[in-house]
Amino acid sequence: MKTIIEPFRMKVVEPIRLTTRADRERLVADAHFNLFGLHSDDVLIDLLTDSGTGAMSAAQWSAVMRGDESYAGSPSFYRFRDAVQDLMPFRHVIPTHQGRAAEAILFSILGGAGRVIPSNTHFDTTRGNIEATGAEALDLPCAEAADFASVFPFKGNMDIAALDRLLGERGAAVPCVMMTLTNNAGGGQPVSLGNLRAVRALATRHGKPLIIDGCRFAENAWFVKQREPGQQARSVRDIVRETFSLADGMTMSAKKDGLANIGGWLALNDEELALAARNRLILTEGFPTYGGLAGRDLEAIAAGLAEVVDEEYLRYRVRCNEYIGERLLALDVPIVQPVGGHAVFIDARTMLAHIPPLAYPGQALAVALYEVGGVRSCEIGTVMFGRQPDGRELPARFDLVRLAFPRRVYTQSHADYLVEVFAEVAGARTQLRGLRIVEEPRLMRHFTARFARL
Ligand code: F0G
Repeated sequence: MKTIIEPFRMKVVEPIRLTTRADRERLVADAHFNLFGLHSDDVLIDLLTDSGTGAMSAAQWSAVMRGDESYAGSPSFYRFRDAVQDLMPFRHVIPTHQGRAAEAILFSILGGAGRVIPSNTHFDTTRGNIEATGAEALDLPCAEAADFASVFPFKGNMDIAALDRLLGERGAAVPCVMMTLTNNAGGGQPVSLGNLRAVRALATRHGKPLIIDGCRFAENAWFVKQREPGQQARSVRDIVRETFSLADGMTMSAKKDGLANIGGWLALNDEELALAARNRLILTEGFPTYGGLAGRDLEAIAAGLAEVVDEEYLRYRVRCNEYIGERLLALDVPIVQPVGGHAVFIDARTMLAHIPPLAYPGQALAVALYEVGGVRSCEIGTVMFGRQPDGRELPARFDLVRLAFPRRVYTQSHADYLVEVFAEVAGARTQLRGLRIVEEPRLMRHFTARFARL
C-alpha cells in the first residue's frame, strides 16, 4: 500500500478547542505578538516543540502504575537502567529530570575557563551550560549544513577537517568532543555512521572522550538505515547500539526519543567521571536511583525506549514530515531540505523577502500562521539570536520558522489542514507586515519580548 497509516489507534482523546480568526487576532495581540505568551488551549495545532509533548502508549501508562517510589533502590530504576543499557551500552546510567540537567552536571565537571568543547552544533541549553562554566562552545558543522536547498543526506555531520585542526592546535584545551544526534539546531539533520566513526577515530587519536547528545537517536538511526550505503539490511536497534558503542558517554532528554513527557539521563563509561557526576547529582537532582524523577517517570521511559526503535513507528514519524515538506514545496514555500526527523523548517527570510531581518520575518510568519489557522510554531532567527552580548542588534545568520511535531499526537488530516493554512498565508504573503520589539529582557528575549506591528 502507498498510504503509510498512523501505526496506532486512539483510546484517549484530548479535545481541541476551536477558535475563530477574529478570536485569534485578539488573543495574539493580547499576547503582544509573542506566541510563548498564548494559553495552549487557544492553540489548534501546537508545533512549538516536539519535547515532552508526545502521546504515551497504553503500555507506558500501565507501566506508570507499576512505578515504585522508594527513595533508594527502586525496581523502577533498574528497569529504566536495563532499558537504557539495552540500546546504549554504557556502564553508568544516571537519571536526571531532563536533558539540560544532564548537561549541567557533565559540564560542571568537564567545563571551566580556558576550555573549548567542539560539536557538530550545540543545542542552546548545551551551549548555555558550557558557557556558564566559562568554557567555549564551538560549532563545527559540515559545509553542506549552511545551504538550505542542498539535499545532502547527512547535513548534521561534523566538519572532520576542522575538528582535526582544532585538536591539533588547541588539543590541550579540549576536555571532550560532542556530537548532537540529530542536529536540532541545524534543522533536525542526521549524522552518518561514517562521520561518527571518523569523529571517534580523531577523538581516540587525541585521547579525548566522545559524548553524544542522543535526544533524537532513533530518528537518526532511521535516517542511517534509509540513506547510508550498506546500512539497509540492519535493524534500527543494531544501528543504535553501534552508534553508542562508538561513544564514551551521552546526555539525553527522554522528552524526545524517550517518548516520555519528562526525564533524561547522563551515561558514562569512566568510573571516576561517573562518581563525580553522581556526587553532583545528589546535590542538584536527587539520589542516584531516581535523579530528578518519580519512579513512574522511570517506568514510562523504560517502556518508551522499547517502542521508539519500532521501525513502523519511525517510518510513519519521518514520513509525516516528508509529506508536509513535499506539499509545502508544491506551494513554493521555501523549506530547509531535506526535511529533518522532528521538524519542518521554513525559510521565512526568503518567503517574506519584503520584510528585512530586523523587522523579524520569522516572527511575522509565525504570527500569521496563528492568526489564519491557530497553528503555533517557533521563530528561530533574528528574534532568538539577534541581540549581541555588547547590546547591538544584528540580523541572525537566517530567519527560520520551526514546525516541530509532537510524537504520535497529530494525524494526516491535521497535516492537510496545516498545508491549507500555509496556502492561505503564502497567497497573502506580500501583505504581511514586519514587527518591532517594544520591550525585551536582557537575556533569552524570544521567550518574553513584546512586539508591535509595523
Ligand atoms: N539537546 C537537544 C538536541 C535538544 O533538542 C534539547 C531540547 C536538549 C538537549 C535539552 O533537553 O529540554 O530535556 O532539557 N530541545 C527542545 C526543543 C527544548 O524544543 O528543541 P531538555
